[in-house]
Amino acid sequence: MPPQPLVTARRLRKVYGKPGAREFTAVDGIDFEVRRGEAFGLLGANGAGKSSTMRMIACVSPVSGGDLTILGRDAATDGPAIRARLGVVPQDDTVDTELTVRENLLIYGRYFGLSKVEVRRRAAELLEFARLTEKADESVGALSGGMRRRLTIARALVNSPDIVLLDEPTTGLDPQARHLLWERLFQLKREGVTLLLTTHYMDEAEQLCDRLVVMDSGRIVAEGAPAELISRYTTREVVELRLTDGDRATYGDELRSLVARFEDLADRLLLYTDDGEDVLSRAHATGARPITALVRRSTLEDVFLTLTGRSLVD
Ligand SMILES: Nc1ncnc2c1ncn2[C@@H]1O[C@H](COP(=O)(O)OP(=O)(O)OP(=O)(O)O)[C@@H](O)[C@H]1O
Ligand SMILES: [Mg+2]
Repeated sequence: MPPQPLVTARRLRKVYGKPGAREFTAVDGIDFEVRRGEAFGLLGANGAGKSSTMRMIACVSPVSGGDLTILGRDAATDGPAIRARLGVVPQDDTVDTELTVRENLLIYGRYFGLSKVEVRRRAAELLEFARLTEKADESVGALSGGMRRRLTIARALVNSPDIVLLDEPTTGLDPQARHLLWERLFQLKREGVTLLLTTHYMDEAEQLCDRLVVMDSGRIVAEGAPAELISRYTTREVVELRLTDGDRATYGDELRSLVARFEDLADRLLLYTDDGEDVLSRAHATGARPITALVRRSTLEDVFLTLTGRSLVD
């Protein structure tokens, strides 16, 4: 028998507002499973329903419909027992800015019922993990965004959770801070921790997630491993052309006819093909003189474009 998934959502719904008057369906009947030891992602644009889903899994927002089972328990009735086994990193950091870095961990650990000795040992370990040992006695107010995020993650690990929920773990961080965070999350993965994360960054999803679902307007529009989704929904390569308005008007139709699928973005023309170099040389042969032209591999961004007709980045 295959092992039980750690999270199972069936026809899961989240409706905000009073029944009848001004109801808004943020999560519209979604199904997914998270397996032990995997990093599972919810990928989607702003307002797709990622945080609403996460908050239901964290048992801080009631389920409006469908079934949600976490660690074998029902989210609707077993919230406290489930919460005790989760680590939660909300979209906005909620660390206490008036305490020191270490105090944040100590207080949280005590809250989970760890003994004083245990919580001291655990805090030291987690400070090391989060690369914050040198900042241990500084006030949280003095931390950079990346450090604060790492502290929130360290805090979520205090109770050695079975699942860690991360809502947009790297949004708003500079590239260096993001990379350090990815590296730490990857370390958790190697240790066998089950990660459930939301993101609207494709590169993050591609790097961290074993499997993911793409959400759009409260629904799941695709599910699979990043490489599977790329091979299922897009071609191997993409030719990106930036054209002058004049060239776009003159050569646009001819360029588009070179491929079976294209995307006409505000600033670029994307030509989908399995042989980018070939399409690029045929594009040049039309007479068009692109301002820039490049051939690249397809990414999850292209999957998202195919599925929704929109770009994930605003
Ligand atoms: N408490 C609430 N009351 C009413 N509507 C809400 C509430 N929380 C979220 N929504 C709405 O539900 C929809 C989904 O929001 P949600 O925060 O789940 O999206 P998200 O995918 O996390 O987006 P983002 O990428 O911006 O974080 C949005 O249209 C949002 O305005
Ligand atoms: Mg969100």
